[in-house]
Amino acid sequence: MKINKNYLNLKPSYLFKNIAERTEKYKKENPDADIIRMGIGDVTLPLCKSAVKEMIAASEEMSDINSFHGYPESFGEDFLLDAIKYHYSKHIGVEVDTSEIIVTCGAKEDTANILDIFDTDNTVLIPDPVYPVYLDTNIMAGREVKFISANAENGFLPMPTEKDKADIIYICSPNNPTGEVYSKEQLKIWVDFALANNSVILYDAAYEMFISDIELPRSIFQVEGARKCAIEFCSFSKTAGFTGVRCGYTVIPKELEADGMKLLDMWKRRQSTKFNGVSYVVQRAAAAVFTDEGYSEICENINYYRTNTENMMQTFDSLGIKYYGGKHSPYIWLKCPSDMKSWDFFDFLLKECNIVGTPGAGFGENGEGYFRLSGFGNIERTKEALKRIEDKLKK
Ligand code: MLT
Repeated sequence: MKINKNYLNLKPSYLFKNIAERTEKYKKENPDADIIRMGIGDVTLPLCKSAVKEMIAASEEMSDINSFHGYPESFGEDFLLDAIKYHYSKHIGVEVDTSEIIVTCGAKEDTANILDIFDTDNTVLIPDPVYPVYLDTNIMAGREVKFISANAENGFLPMPTEKDKADIIYICSPNNPTGEVYSKEQLKIWVDFALANNSVILYDAAYEMFISDIELPRSIFQVEGARKCAIEFCSFSKTAGFTGVRCGYTVIPKELEADGMKLLDMWKRRQSTKFNGVSYVVQRAAAAVFTDEGYSEICENINYYRTNTENMMQTFDSLGIKYYGGKHSPYIWLKCPSDMKSWDFFDFLLKECNIVGTPGAGFGENGEGYFRLSGFGNIERTKEALKRIEDKLKK
């Protein structure tokens, strides 16, 4: 037996696991510390009422021999595919066919698993800093990875040049970790670049619900030409607080082809072999999120989290700390004060303020000197965290 030696090229521990372990260690040594967690982007509000109502009704169905469901449909139940199609059309202004939507357990899984349908010889272009899943999964597969630098000069929204040519291109907008959002014009440049170089764009739209400016794109399919070069991933995790429930969807346009193969057919072939579908109860809950009632409930939750990012922006403005994101994203990407390194600021915040955040360096070399704070917390606790930061950093 031989192992996949590519695993030896990975960092020993996944970023958020590393942070959780450090936090646990600190908590053990300081049992009285009142820790406020603003690290991993996990939601704190409960599921919306419409989703829970459907979950209960669906569970009742499962308890009755006449309405019990066995294996779910591999690519999603019709009622959920219709709901997602409706969401695209009504809220985003994009028409997709239900046959182009594949329901899954979430965007993390999909952005990782999609790699099955691509040759390991493909080159990959990944922004630095980046959500670690894109990088780690390509390292696991042994692919050559190129980085495009996101930095203060380009406002953490890098644009492609000749040297960035690659077969597979990852874009996340609103971006994790920086919270910045590409405009339609910028995305059009990426789409044209992908079309000219026969590349595929893997577009992670997990945070689309946080966009509040109608001029900013919530889907890459709002950009002309994208149907010929892009796959879009989205999820109910950040949209509707499903981080613990697990449901997401991938959209692959029918016309997207490579080597004479439709990528949609390949992904469906992959999914029907390796995945048995999302549970019926969860799919019922997910569909409820995109009813008019459910949608207004999740918008309320998103607004709740927006209050956190607004409060954070106010505090950092008053402290004169430079930051990115926050306006159309649950994340604030801030420049560490006093030119501290990311992990030093992590230790400082943990020890001096009992706050856990995510060191920018964990997202890539360009993240060094930056720090990510999540706005997914409780409003009062977030205010308390900001007060602690203000007290420590106010001159
Ligand atoms: C994050 O904190 O970056 C996310 O919660 C991680 C994820 O969505 O998997």
